Amino acid sequence: MWGGRFAEGPSAIMREINASIPFDKQLWQQDIAASKAHVAMLAACKIVSVEDADTITGGLEKVAAEYEADGVPENWDLEDIHMTTEARLAELVGPVAGRLHTARSRNDQVATDFRLWVRDETDSLLEGLAGLQRSLVETAGQHADSIMPGFTHLQTAQPVTLGHHLMAYYEMIARDVSRFKDARVRLNQSPLGSAALAGTGFPIDRKMTTQALGFDAPTANSLDAVSDRDFALDFLGAASQCALHLSRLAEEFVIWASQPFGFVRMPDTLSTGSSIMPQKKNPDAAELVRGHAGRIVGCQMALMMTMKGLPLAYSKDMQDDKPPVFEAAGLLQLCVAAMTGMVAGADFRTGRMRQAAELGYATATDLADWLVREADIPFREAHHITGAAVKLAEGKGSALDELSLEELQVIDPRIDDRVYKALSVEASVAARNSYGGTAPEQVRVQIAEARKSLGMDQ
Ligand code: ARG
Repeated sequence: MWGGRFAEGPSAIMREINASIPFDKQLWQQDIAASKAHVAMLAACKIVSVEDADTITGGLEKVAAEYEADGVPENWDLEDIHMTTEARLAELVGPVAGRLHTARSRNDQVATDFRLWVRDETDSLLEGLAGLQRSLVETAGQHADSIMPGFTHLQTAQPVTLGHHLMAYYEMIARDVSRFKDARVRLNQSPLGSAALAGTGFPIDRKMTTQALGFDAPTANSLDAVSDRDFALDFLGAASQCALHLSRLAEEFVIWASQPFGFVRMPDTLSTGSSIMPQKKNPDAAELVRGHAGRIVGCQMALMMTMKGLPLAYSKDMQDDKPPVFEAAGLLQLCVAAMTGMVAGADFRTGRMRQAAELGYATATDLADWLVREADIPFREAHHITGAAVKLAEGKGSALDELSLEELQVIDPRIDDRVYKALSVEASVAARNSYGGTAPEQVRVQIAEARKSLGMDQ
């Protein structure tokens, strides 16, 4: 493509280090779409003839059909998807193919293609995340009343409902959705027409290509347009944070599925066995979601390091922008799909969860609160009395509400039998009826709002 200036071709090592075709062939659909929009604009602006534009468009469609059928050929001499397509176009339609690159550079071309790719991927991830949200909301709806221990420090704290717990993840995913949507708004400007860095002397119509490619506006500064990868970093930032959320949820499943917890039976479809221990059913999918979060964050770091310190405008370092984005996107898609299936397919052992809440003395705060409210005891003293009751129950291996009134009155005679209403885990969750709290009534409010915003009841 640039033989005119060179006496010798590139060395083997130059060809290899320079080649982006092994990964940027993933951009082929966007590359064809952008080229078609470009050549249509060139014809409309009378920069190429309508006849040549038609020939080029027809040729591009043929190239696309070949890619579709046989994949994109990987010839390092052609470096990237842009040159690969142009070279094949020339084979198919002859020298007129050379007119396609008028008023364009690979710098604005790759910036355009890559934005289109990230936009498509964002849309597809948003669909996936909506599916995960639906899955969380459905399962939460089945368990708005299922009691489990709520933890702080992974120590039993107060009873909560499983529905409430799952809806916490719904909130996290809702923020992820808003981050991806927000990133998409900033992404959606067209760099096409910025050419190599300075714009072009040809009388192009950037608004026309902007519109054809579904962008909201042309970028305002050509130097920025060809060297900006914020859209990729925004995507990776949103992906990283989303991956962290999925990793936390995955970790819950790993813990809950362990035998000492026994809160959940994982779906067979998302578990593996052991080649030596026949009893094992391992939560590998959850562990990999947890592991993949590290890789996704690593991708974000990789591109941040690539971009740091690059002077304007395009530098070849920027070719390294794609592998981390492709990798992170692929991993995140898998993680979202795995967690959607896990939430929908998990068999929650609600009896075990409830028992764990009882034996973990999760209602101790309720006893202390009762002593304050009903027996007018200062909270510090109530805390102490409650501690004695927990100690007694623990010694007997019983739940707090399994202690007899006589036993409780030995600890403090001011306790009467109304206390049992406060000691049950049901009473405890029902009492936490503040907006956003764990009471089933509140959880159902959250679920109803979520269903509405997901359009689940239409
Ligand atoms: N393969 C390049 C990339 O992905 C295309 C842009 C090349 N531009 C250049 N000035 N060498 O970034």
